[in-house]
Amino acid sequence: METKQTELDFIEAAKTVLTMNDKGAYTAPVSSSMYPHQWLWDSCFIAIGLRHYDIEKAKLEILSLFRGQWANGMLPNMILSDDKNSRNAKIWRSWVNPNAPDDVGTSGITQPPVLAEAIVRIGQKLSKPERRTWYKTIFPALLAYHEWLYAERDPYGEGLVLLVHPWETGLDNTPPWMHELKDHQMPLWIQAIDKLKLSSLFHFFRNDTKFVPAEERMGTIDALALYSTQRRLRRKNYDIKRILTRTQFTIEDISFNSMLIRANQHLVEIAKFIREDLPGSLLESMKRTERALEQLWDPYASQYFSREFVSHRLLKQPTIGTLMPLYAGSITKERAKQLVKLLEDSQLFGTHYPIPSVPVNNEYFSPKRYWQGPSWVNTNWLIIDGLKRYGFRDHAEALRESTVDMVKQSGFYEYFSPLDGKPSGAPNFSWTAALIIDLLADKDNS
Ligand code: GLC
Repeated sequence: METKQTELDFIEAAKTVLTMNDKGAYTAPVSSSMYPHQWLWDSCFIAIGLRHYDIEKAKLEILSLFRGQWANGMLPNMILSDDKNSRNAKIWRSWVNPNAPDDVGTSGITQPPVLAEAIVRIGQKLSKPERRTWYKTIFPALLAYHEWLYAERDPYGEGLVLLVHPWETGLDNTPPWMHELKDHQMPLWIQAIDKLKLSSLFHFFRNDTKFVPAEERMGTIDALALYSTQRRLRRKNYDIKRILTRTQFTIEDISFNSMLIRANQHLVEIAKFIREDLPGSLLESMKRTERALEQLWDPYASQYFSREFVSHRLLKQPTIGTLMPLYAGSITKERAKQLVKLLEDSQLFGTHYPIPSVPVNNEYFSPKRYWQGPSWVNTNWLIIDGLKRYGFRDHAEALRESTVDMVKQSGFYEYFSPLDGKPSGAPNFSWTAALIIDLLADKDNS
């Protein structure tokens, strides 16, 4: 009885976080001014929690994302909350590209495609006629988004989509990107700042470290590298043809492509439900992605890696992305078993509070540094879902329980040390709260 009450209080506390961050049409990642905008994959995870107690709000969260959709189908990772004269609007200047919407400022890049997942999860809570209406409302824009991903990001029809900025992975300072940026695309002025150890002089341009201790964020040199990459894209007006003809570094990201495979499966399900045909070329591309994912398997390391787009060189830095093909669901059971072994290994991903965003024995591992070590609730959620679909029910349940315990113990933080579960980053973080609501509801369903 008492445990039940504690659990109900915990769910209420999670809902309070989402109410606190409610901006009307959407929910911001946190209530402070650190993240005031609408983010693409954040809103998808938020809607997955909201659907359990406010289905209309969950729908609105998703529909609001389409305010930012570009005429070519692109969904930006950020829809800005402020006007065109704001600092952020001036950083992005989305108006340099004719496809950007006129009435709202956006970024010029995208984020992982978990949108179809959120749409289907909302659909599960609706009666069949309501679901049909929901899917019909959303279908054209969702289709345009998937078509854009292939048209612009798989220019040679090879199957894997490419990313033009680390922010597009959602795992901002993930090691393979940071490693390559430093090796190939670090402007001389940033190299000089690094060499002369002057990075502390550049703290002023950072907003995040005003809210969160600097050692829990990426280093300033890494942050400068990300901003300079963003400026390169802006100089090319976010025009993919111009981006690809010059020497811009691009990656076929294992994590993003795994999520795309699952999103494609959902899109097929949605189309079937409303008896819409998907274009043949899109269906072909989808099949190719599933096959091409296997090219990212490295037999020597027995794991998946991201790949550099032009040379097809594997970027052999293991990250949470290594495990994401479990979520894709398209790999063989044999491969899935190999990934589960990595998850069990205490030298790699099998920490006390899994799953670290970088394996613990990796040179980059740092328990509190953003996407270079901490455990995040959203990546855990995706892998729990994948484990279940592959029939690893005990592993899924153990991960669900440790994720819930970690948040119960430490609060609804942005991320957590995988070693002791201690909180890091921003408090009252929306997707942590939303996905805890979902993980607890999940327990009641199983
Ligand atoms: C950070 C995260 C990204 C998230 C955003 C808003 O940039 O790396 O995944 O979407 O914050 O929460």
